[in-house]
Amino acid sequence: MSENYFASVDVGSLSTDVVIINSAGKTMSEVVLDTGVNGVAAAQKAIDLALEHSNLTQEQVIAVTATGYGRASVPFASGKTTEISCHGVGAHQLFPKTGTVIDIGGQDSKVIQIDDRGRMLDFTMNDKCAAGTGRFLEVMADRLELGLNELSDPSHITGKSARISSTCTVFAESEVISLMAKHTRREQIVNGLQRSIVNRIWSMVTSIGIEGEVTLTGGVANNRGLVLVLEEKLGQKLNVPENPQTVGALGAALIALRNFNNQHF
Ligand SMILES: Nc1ncnc2c1ncn2[C@@H]1O[C@H](COP(=O)(O)OP(=O)(O)OP(=O)(O)O)[C@@H](O)[C@H]1O
Ligand SMILES: [Mg+2]
Repeated sequence: MSENYFASVDVGSLSTDVVIINSAGKTMSEVVLDTGVNGVAAAQKAIDLALEHSNLTQEQVIAVTATGYGRASVPFASGKTTEISCHGVGAHQLFPKTGTVIDIGGQDSKVIQIDDRGRMLDFTMNDKCAAGTGRFLEVMADRLELGLNELSDPSHITGKSARISSTCTVFAESEVISLMAKHTRREQIVNGLQRSIVNRIWSMVTSIGIEGEVTLTGGVANNRGLVLVLEEKLGQKLNVPENPQTVGALGAALIALRNFNNQHF
């Protein structure tokens, strides 16, 4: 009998991520693409690429779970699940001792408490504005004429820090403009911006509390400077997945597999 495969698509505000797993939960392929203006087209392209990378056909994939803000519009999905559950399941799979997941994506950030099987116990999220999200960092990187890679450089956070008092993206951008006009060094501004994001995340963390190991998911986990500032603030090391953008999609694929097997957590 041929093996069954399970897939997911996480249509986020900035990236569309697909993971294909086999029936043992092993990842066969993963793809991250820009969502762009057409989430449905990005979802189709991402699944096609993931199938190609794993040498599989669509028929071999027997269930596809969609998640992310664009999950309702994925035509080939057989089920839908919220991102919060998916990040919990994905983080638990990669780091089984995870008690708290911090997901910092392009448009929102979340702190999720999970139990010892990856099930969500409680969460808090910031989805009303760009403050404390990857989008905030992208706006500031553009303003500073830095690539995201340069902005993420951990050497920026070791020296002096400019004070950015506003968490609002629009006001913080004005602060950056006036700091630049005063010839404040760019690394000091970056240091201030990283600390501003971390303060925003910290206020969510204190409202919900930290339990066990903390796993950081979402694209902002690629920002090495921010990871260091967040670790300093939390007073503990973070689990950082190799590919943090696909953790939600990994969780969604595992949920597809468990639903198929009629397994409950
Ligand atoms: N190589 C990188 N270095 C630094 N930051 C990065 C890198 N790659 C992605 N990011 C950050 O990740 C963010 C996007 O994260 P992600 O792909 O998880 O968002 P999303 O899932 O589309 O958004 P959401 O879940 O909020 O809808 C970008 O805004 C950017 O700040
Ligand atoms: Mg996301």
